[in-house]
Amino acid sequence: MHHLISRHGRLLRVVGSLLGLALCTTTWSADQVSMNTMEQRVQPCMACHAEQGIDLQSGFVPSLHGKPAGYLFNQLMNYRDGRRNHRAMEYMVRNLSPDYLQEIAEYFAGLEGEYPQPADPPTSTALRERADELITRGDPSRDIPACIACHGERLTGAQPNTPGLLGLPSHYVAAQMTSWRSGQRRAAEPDCMQQIADRLGSEDVYALARALAARDVPAEPLPEPEPLADLPMECGSVPIPES
Ligand code: HEC
Ligand code: HEC
Repeated sequence: MHHLISRHGRLLRVVGSLLGLALCTTTWSADQVSMNTMEQRVQPCMACHAEQGIDLQSGFVPSLHGKPAGYLFNQLMNYRDGRRNHRAMEYMVRNLSPDYLQEIAEYFAGLEGEYPQPADPPTSTALRERADELITRGDPSRDIPACIACHGERLTGAQPNTPGLLGLPSHYVAAQMTSWRSGQRRAAEPDCMQQIADRLGSEDVYALARALAARDVPAEPLPEPEPLADLPMECGSVPIPES
C-alpha cells in the first residue's frame, strides 16, 4: 500500500511539474506590470492550489489558505533553497526574493476558504485505532509524542510556524512523512518531524495519512494564536515561547 502511495505521488509530481512549466511560460511571465494586486499575481498558484481543485481522497496538492504565515514562508524558502524537493514548486519560487515570498505567505495566511469533503477513513479498525492513538497519545514505547502535543488539541496548528494537519489530501501527508525519512524534505535543525517520521512504521504512516484526511475540519479552523508551550521535543522551526 505504501508502495502504491509513493508511485501515485511520483506520477502526480511529474504531471504537476509539466503543468507548472506550461503555466510558467504562459501565465507567470505574462505582462507582470499589469498584475497589480496580490490576487492577480498569485493566479498561477491557484491553478493547482485553489480549494475546489483539492481532493482529499485521491488528490495531492495541499491547500494554503489560513495556514500560519511563518510556516508558509519557511516552506517557500525550503523549495527555493533545496530543503524541499518538488520540481513544480522549485520552479515557481526559484526567482522570487525572500521579501516577496514573505508577502505571498502573508497573503495566503489571511485567506479564508472552504475545506473539501473529508476522505474515507482506513477500512481496518486496527489501523483506525492505531492512528487515533498516535494522534492523541503517541507511542511512548517508540518515543513518539502525540501529534496534538505540537499540532494543537484541534490539530489546526499554532502560530507562527506549526501547520495544521486537517484538510490535507492523504497522499500528500503520506508523501511528506516519506520525504522526511528519505531526506527529500528538511526543516530547521533539530528537525523534530524527521525524527518522528523515522520512528513511525510504514503502516503507521498510511494509517495516519488516511485517518487525518478523513477527519472533519473544525468550524473554527484557524491555528492557535500563540505558540504552544512545553513541546515534547525541540523543533528548530518553532520558537520557544517566553515564560
Ligand atoms: C503545478 C501545480 C502547482 C503550482 C502552479 C503551484 N504549486 Fe505549490 N504545491 C504544489 C504541490 C504538488 C505541492 C506539494 C509538493 C510537495 O510534496 O512538497 C505544493 C506545495 C506548496 C506549499 C507547501 C504547503 C505545505 O503545506 O507545506 C506552498 C507554501 C506552496 N505550494 C505555495 C505555492 C505558491 C505561492 C505558488 C505560486 C507562486 C504555487 N505554490 C504554485 C503544486 C503547485
Ligand atoms: C515536537 C512537535 C511535533 C510533533 C510531536 C509532531 N509534529 Fe508534525 N510538525 C511539527 C512542525 C514544527 C512542523 C513544521 C515543519 C516545517 O517547518 O517543515 C510539522 C509538520 C508536519 C507535517 C507537514 C504538514 C504540511 O502541510 O506539509 C505533517 C504531515 C506532520 N507534521 C505530521 C505529524 C504527525 C502525523 C504527528 C504525530 C505522529 C506529528 N506531526 C507530530 C512538529 C511536530
